[in-house]
Amino acid sequence: MSVLTVDDLVQHFPIAGTKAKVRAVNGVSFTLDKGETLALVGESGSGKTTIGRCVLGLIQPTAGRISYKGTALGGSRTVRSPELRGRLQLVFQEPSESLNPRLRVHELIDEPLRALKVPRADREKKVREAARQVGLAESLFEKFPAEISMGLQQRVGVARAMISDPDVVVLDEPTSALDPTARAEIIDLLIQIQRKLGTAYLFISHDLSAVRHISHRIAVLYLGKVVEEGPSAKVFAKPGHPYSVALLSSVLLPNPRIRSQSQIRLAGEIPSPINLPKACYLAGRCPLAIDRCREEMPPAEQVAPDHMVRCYRHADVARLDDETDQFDRFQGEVERILGAGVETRAAPSKVQKAGAEHGQA
Ligand SMILES: Nc1ncnc2c1ncn2[C@@H]1O[C@H](COP(=O)(O)OP(=O)(O)OP(=O)(O)O)[C@@H](O)[C@H]1O
Ligand SMILES: [Mg+2]
Repeated sequence: MSVLTVDDLVQHFPIAGTKAKVRAVNGVSFTLDKGETLALVGESGSGKTTIGRCVLGLIQPTAGRISYKGTALGGSRTVRSPELRGRLQLVFQEPSESLNPRLRVHELIDEPLRALKVPRADREKKVREAARQVGLAESLFEKFPAEISMGLQQRVGVARAMISDPDVVVLDEPTSALDPTARAEIIDLLIQIQRKLGTAYLFISHDLSAVRHISHRIAVLYLGKVVEEGPSAKVFAKPGHPYSVALLSSVLLPNPRIRSQSQIRLAGEIPSPINLPKACYLAGRCPLAIDRCREEMPPAEQVAPDHMVRCYRHADVARLDDETDQFDRFQGEVERILGAGVETRAAPSKVQKAGAEHGQA
């Protein structure tokens, strides 16, 4: 069973003094299994953080359902029990912003346990274990966040997210404030923790190399709608939606060497989420758009049992870019950034998942 199911999630923010709304999330569905990483990718403003905040109960969705292990989660975070909050945790982008500057390292790691009213002696033991797990020396316990590096601060962030033994962790740009070495270390740490504990990650990032390295599956968001979802290796190698092609070959990639030679180039600017196109949101920018794309939202189509694309012309996208296998390109870039010999990830096998189920991962 999935640990997390998000079904037709909608989040519209009213704009004060007007009837208009910011349509940040527009019918997003996905599932997340134990031990699995689903990456949410998309340009700035595509709704990634908003989805994460809904999952954590930090904001109340306009519509849609979020379930944890088959049970619907109602309402906002304030009505979630401390136990439930412990099951779904988060790691933010800016460790310095998410860590209370007046608390010492051991107190920061301990915070979620205090909320759970865990007895003091157990807490001390767990704090030491969590610190060991993320590679934080006990000599740092009395330091304040400002006294340690950003990389160490983010380790504190990870330790405190993991200390309540969560099933799901939302990682919202957890590495973007870090230098390349600290970034690689945190990604590797997250992978190790997941292998050991079977934690599921919702991984939000602009850093496509990190996404390729850590994620099993990837969901591509455009204006609050998932336009493509599938195994990471497949989507990177052969994206089926024109927007995914553009995103994965775009200037967002730091190294021009790995920008793809794709023939699909988008025109114009991203529309405003206040005034969305009536059918396919990409139609006005897409070189393959036909009349139907402007009339009717393309349905979520399974182009393979595990691969969804929301585009009437997905077969043509696949044909056009037949020659460009983007996987090798990414493998090379991942190795360049994270060190040679790293493996990019395939979906966890059934055997691994079954093992994780019994705590043997
Ligand atoms: N509280 C809010 N009130 C009004 N609009 C909001 C609010 N929060 C987010 N938005 C809008 O919702 C849209 C999605 O924002 P969100 O922060 O989820 O995007 P994102 O994909 O996380 O972007 P980034 O990559 O820059 O972090 C944006 O247009 C944003 O301006
Ligand atoms: Mg964001």
